[in-house]
Amino acid sequence: AKYTRINQETCIACGSCGACAPEIFDYNDEGIAFVLLDDNQGIEEVPEDLYDDLEDAVSGCPTDSIKVSSQPIELQEI
Ligand code: F3S
Repeated sequence: AKYTRINQETCIACGSCGACAPEIFDYNDEGIAFVLLDDNQGIEEVPEDLYDDLEDAVSGCPTDSIKVSSQPIELQEI
């Protein structure tokens, strides 16, 4: 299983992740990314058919702000 979460403290609103994985990431009014699946809580499993998109987004983020874990991602981890 994979879970993902944006570190919104380090996201610089570059806009890459939502282009790579539009079904996983979207942006708030300031352009800061969040995970659509669970409102950026890191608790909803990423569907397997989106793993390739997720990988593209992670490798394309210039600030390494996209966290991925095999377990639900708690707030305090990022
Ligand atoms: Fe932010 Fe990285 Fe996405 S900087 S907008 S999390 S690609």
